[in-house]
Amino acid sequence: MTTISTALPSGRLLEDSKDFLKKIGINVKEPAHRELISYENGYTFYFPRAFDVPVYVENGVDIGICGSDVALERSNEVYIPLELPFGKCRMSIILPENREISFQKMEGYRIATKYPEITKNFFSEKGLKVKILKLNGAVELAAKTGIADAIVDIVDTGNTIQANNLKEAYKIMDISAVLLVNRITQKTKFDFINDLINKAKKYKNEENMN
Ligand code: PRP
Repeated sequence: MTTISTALPSGRLLEDSKDFLKKIGINVKEPAHRELISYENGYTFYFPRAFDVPVYVENGVDIGICGSDVALERSNEVYIPLELPFGKCRMSIILPENREISFQKMEGYRIATKYPEITKNFFSEKGLKVKILKLNGAVELAAKTGIADAIVDIVDTGNTIQANNLKEAYKIMDISAVLLVNRITQKTKFDFINDLINKAKKYKNEENMN
């Protein structure tokens, strides 16, 4: 039997990732208390931080699931055969509620974010120089305290920005979960990966019809 290792994102994408895998015939077993690995039916499941899933897949784990934001920010050497129909949200430039300015006028702005690469690329493509403050979370606080002039972050329900008197000023991109495949696995376990992608596409089409 082929054994397959899978990196799943701990955090907000985990439940939807498990539901998706279940629907295509892969039952994820919860790890025991504070353990980071579980085993079920020839599958090994790893539970790294969401931001680290692409690093595991690049370095030998067969498949993984993470947000397209993380895949783009990390830009690891992995194969991304398709977007998955969950984890949908957007990455946006966020401003204090009372500030009116277009991003074209943000030259010299201090921008706090968990996504320095995406942010740097976005502004440099527009010919703008900004100062990026790399944070690891709770980025809204940087705008509230004034250490940053704006933030670049994920907006899902919009509750977090609303609760912090911030507003979504400009959408940089749409985000969804993506499937990652190790580049060697893609060749050595071709039949399994091909079957997985076909099942995932079928699931995606069914979801789109609902
Ligand atoms: C993300 C993001 C926002 C929030 C947006 O943070 O960074 O803070 O979710 O979601 P909402 O629009 O539904 O309120 P996450 O909860 O992943 O944690 P973090 O603050 O550690 O980044």
